[in-house]
Amino acid sequence: MQQRTVGFIGAGNMTQSIIRGLVASGYPADAIIASNRSEGKLNALNADLGIQITTDNNDVLRQSDVVVLSVKPQMMADMLSACDASLVSDDMVFMSIAAGLPLQRLAEMLPAAQKWVRAMPNTPSAVGLGMTGLYGNPHVTQADQALCNELMSAVGETLWVENEAQIDGVIAAAGSSPAYFFLFLEAMQAEAEKMGFSHQQARVLVQQAMRGAAEMVMQNPDTEISTLRTNVMSKGGTTAEAVNTFIAGGLPELVSKSMQAAVTRAQQMSKQL
Ligand SMILES: NC(=O)c1ccc[n+]([C@@H]2O[C@H](COP(=O)([O-])OP(=O)(O)OC[C@H]3O[C@@H](n4cnc5c(N)ncnc54)[C@H](OP(=O)(O)O)[C@@H]3O)[C@@H](O)[C@H]2O)c1
Repeated sequence: MQQRTVGFIGAGNMTQSIIRGLVASGYPADAIIASNRSEGKLNALNADLGIQITTDNNDVLRQSDVVVLSVKPQMMADMLSACDASLVSDDMVFMSIAAGLPLQRLAEMLPAAQKWVRAMPNTPSAVGLGMTGLYGNPHVTQADQALCNELMSAVGETLWVENEAQIDGVIAAAGSSPAYFFLFLEAMQAEAEKMGFSHQQARVLVQQAMRGAAEMVMQNPDTEISTLRTNVMSKGGTTAEAVNTFIAGGLPELVSKSMQAAVTRAQQMSKQL
């Protein structure tokens, strides 16, 4: 693929994960530029990876083919309004990873930009196992999509959605869901402790079980997850007893209600920001 310059505005946690992943996957460091309000994070990125750095966001606009907008959502309007719009060309792709900011709002903040992509990564991106949902407006070409995909693939898997509203579903299913699993593990760890295991022993028990279960799901893509579950539920056995208790307690309905609550909150946030 033709090497295009990728710029990041905001060099916080998510940007650092993406840049580290990109460089590790072979993207040339001299084709990456990042800006940030303060210098500390930039100096570390430059020293570790050799990317270009600046505290002037307009330098990123001057040099980049794709600009990743990675400041906190509530800071986006101020940041974009301070940019020099004359540096924006029709060919530049703007990819926002800010949670809860719809493309229409972003376009109002920077009307000069034509090509917009909204990306929704999740926190496991920090360990290279992220899941990112992406949506591009009609100005975004297949080549633009391929480059944005390459960026987010540096920190995990990607899924392009066909309409922007589906990004809220991505938030419910992948953006927020690591916390659902953490809650489940916390509850299991606490119960294992009540059964007499130390805090650390309980953690090892539940984390390794989770990791093994996740690996089985990954390694058996053609097997339904429900089949993996029923395979370990012998009739009258311990697993069946526990799983049936979950089902009788309404776990599937509670998961559905909780995911809908995430979607509703995402819709509310889109209107507030
Ligand atoms: N972390 C995640 O897992 C995750 C998941 C999904 C989406 N996101 C989205 O990703 C974006 C970044 O999140 P993050 O966790 O990386 O946040 P973060 O660590 O707080 O990084 C934000 C960075 O933006 C910089 N900044 C603020 N205003 C700026 C300006 N006007 N010009 C240049 N830089 C500016 C800040 O600089 P200072 O250090 O000087 O304050 C900070 O380094 C957010 O919009 C968030 O919603 C994050």
